[in-house]
Amino acid sequence: MKITAVAPANIAFIKYWGKKNDNLRLPANGSLSMSLDKCTTTTTVEFDKKYRKDSFEILGDTVSDKEQARVSNYLSRLRKMAKSKFFARVVSRNSFPKSTGIAASASGFAALSVAASSALELKLSEKKLSILARLGSGSACRSIPDGFVEWREGNSNETSFAYSIYPPSYWDLRDILLIISAEQKRVPTTRGQEASRETSIFYRPRIDQARRLLPLLKKAFVKKNLEEVGKIIEKDTINMHCVMMTTNPPLFYWSPKTLEIIKNVYLWREEGVPVYFAIDAGPNVHLICEGGNEKSVLEKVKKIKGINKIIVNKPAKGSHLINNHLF
Ligand code: DP6
Repeated sequence: MKITAVAPANIAFIKYWGKKNDNLRLPANGSLSMSLDKCTTTTTVEFDKKYRKDSFEILGDTVSDKEQARVSNYLSRLRKMAKSKFFARVVSRNSFPKSTGIAASASGFAALSVAASSALELKLSEKKLSILARLGSGSACRSIPDGFVEWREGNSNETSFAYSIYPPSYWDLRDILLIISAEQKRVPTTRGQEASRETSIFYRPRIDQARRLLPLLKKAFVKKNLEEVGKIIEKDTINMHCVMMTTNPPLFYWSPKTLEIIKNVYLWREEGVPVYFAIDAGPNVHLICEGGNEKSVLEKVKKIKGINKIIVNKPAKGSHLINNHLF
């Protein structure tokens, strides 16, 4: 039977950069994110005796041997759980083409967990699905629940999972994503995180501060205080990039354009537009503001040269099944 799932990507306000257990992908600190309605992965899975091996394709994109192997290993984990012997065909489509440079591992593994576990009739709770997605790629566990999501750090496979702290309707926030480069990450995040843990002198202090900032962020969320929320987002973004830049060899994800946008964000705030930035493992900048300020932010953004694409995201619902299959 073919099963298809859709999963949103997410932007972390307190980030995940480093593990305390590599095999289980247990994070060194808890994190909090917003799911993105315009950046999604759709995945169709079919397990069947007609398949001689697992196959994975991304429509309109190439898949490396490493990516094939990572998906196939992941499917084997599910096969074991379901006591199934069938191989699978997996076809995915990202709403954001690879040329936008956004990592698809969060939405990708979330969609795969939901579709593959359902195809194997595993009937998992949201918590179990989040745990399963985490084992594929850490940030994927935050793409299972709806809206605004906390990934509880935990200290075992069963206690480290994500859950919704607020539905998408709780706060009309925007993530205005500015794509400035389609350049692919040269160092995969898993490897980058290990290197940071081993070599960055700021690795530990950042984790300690992220742990202190998380409860403060949650308090600011209760009040829907964008200024408090935004300042925490920027703090942890800068902290994480300091860790990356002080890794050996250094991970410089920013481009000159990234810094130009950061400096503009400060200016725009001085001019009265409440907007804050978040940056993941790449040069692209996520601008966080309230829905009422979307227009004024876009007007400011349009004056900056060299932005390839702008994606305006609202808070999204989490991973779910749909009836339109990709093959
Ligand atoms: C920079 O989830 O890609 O996006 O668990 O090793 O697959 P693995 O890492 P991954 O890490 C992405 C981290 C980040 C920040 C974040 O989303 O919290």
